[in-house]
Amino acid sequence: MNAVLETKHIFDAEQAKKDFPIFANNPNITFLDSAASAQKPQQVIDAVNNCYSNAYANIHRGVYKLSQDATAAYEGSREKVAEFIGANSEREIVFTRNATESINLIAQTWGRQNLKAGDAILISEMEHHANIVPWQMLRDELGIDLRIIPITDSGNIDFDVFINLLDEDVKLLSITQMSNALGTCPPVFDMVKMAKEKGVVTLVDGCQAVVHMPVNVTELDCDFYVFSGHKLYGPTGIGVLYGKLEMLEAMPPYQGGGDMIRSVTFEKTTYAPPPAKFEAGTPHIAGAVGLGAAIDYINSLGLEAICNYEKELFDYATKALLAIDGITIYGHDISRDAIISFSVANVHPHDIGTILDQQGVCVRAGHHCAQPVMKRLGVPATTRMSLGLYNTKADIDHLVVAIRKVQEIFG
Ligand code: ALA
Repeated sequence: MNAVLETKHIFDAEQAKKDFPIFANNPNITFLDSAASAQKPQQVIDAVNNCYSNAYANIHRGVYKLSQDATAAYEGSREKVAEFIGANSEREIVFTRNATESINLIAQTWGRQNLKAGDAILISEMEHHANIVPWQMLRDELGIDLRIIPITDSGNIDFDVFINLLDEDVKLLSITQMSNALGTCPPVFDMVKMAKEKGVVTLVDGCQAVVHMPVNVTELDCDFYVFSGHKLYGPTGIGVLYGKLEMLEAMPPYQGGGDMIRSVTFEKTTYAPPPAKFEAGTPHIAGAVGLGAAIDYINSLGLEAICNYEKELFDYATKALLAIDGITIYGHDISRDAIISFSVANVHPHDIGTILDQQGVCVRAGHHCAQPVMKRLGVPATTRMSLGLYNTKADIDHLVVAIRKVQEIFG
């Protein structure tokens, strides 16, 4: 878990919750599934609405003012993302559909260009399917080796095995900064540093982490960093690929089409420099604008203040759940953040999820797109509660009451 951060802001979750119309429109729900997708503040909804209502045209193509304003809004969001994650330049930010597409982009461009039979990619047992399947597809095509860093009983990286697996065949380390299934946070700084010392390219999946801790990709020194906008209180359908400029410049394009070219003849096409090289076709303009608004919103509240608040709430939730007989929390004794994956003795997670829903509590039950984690834990599924900035102690109290009801029913 992060150390408590110094902050100038005082964060008021009750007040912030009022920014999210979903809660006024659904007054009886307790939403504890932000790891799947976060709710949207009015500021983001307004930004998307304003984009379509007042400031919409295609970007990068029009000489007229409306198009130029839309271009400025879209590119302005790129600058906000760059600043938010500490990139050196907005040219290092590629807009994609989501983190899944960002990872597939890297696999299909950098991967195909740089990997050959006998090379190895290192991922961990705690990865989301999005950081497994694209590499398996590449493995099957190129004959590369996909190596898996095991996780410990506590649900974190087995560091000794990681060191042993990191030999001269490894060309890429692709690792999550925070497990979506367990909330555990691998020591990515150390892992990236060790990989880089061996000349290994590094990719960090920041989908969950970027919401709950300050991220600085320049300090982290990873080559690639990916996340989805919809978990960061932004719209769906917009994602981010950060890549060091020299990496993006050296990579071939992903998809071909409009906006990613410098010149086209039937004989030959030359490509635009990054990030345009990787953004073929009309992008999700309003989505990018909405993501920019989400970042403005987070900055207005103060990310560090939000993180401090969430840490306190997370500790409160952990204690409250552990106080219930028959609850097992997976990975509860190590560094974790914002996510609690648990089971209730003798009740299937899907039954838990259904009965919690009947009481107005929204959680995710299942394998969380991380089936290898479930296999490692020896369970088919878990129930997962995950925090957003709008959650309060009352939400956790509601969850506890609802779990006790589950236990009563299954007596
Ligand atoms: N990756 C999302 C989750 O963890 C969908 O639920």
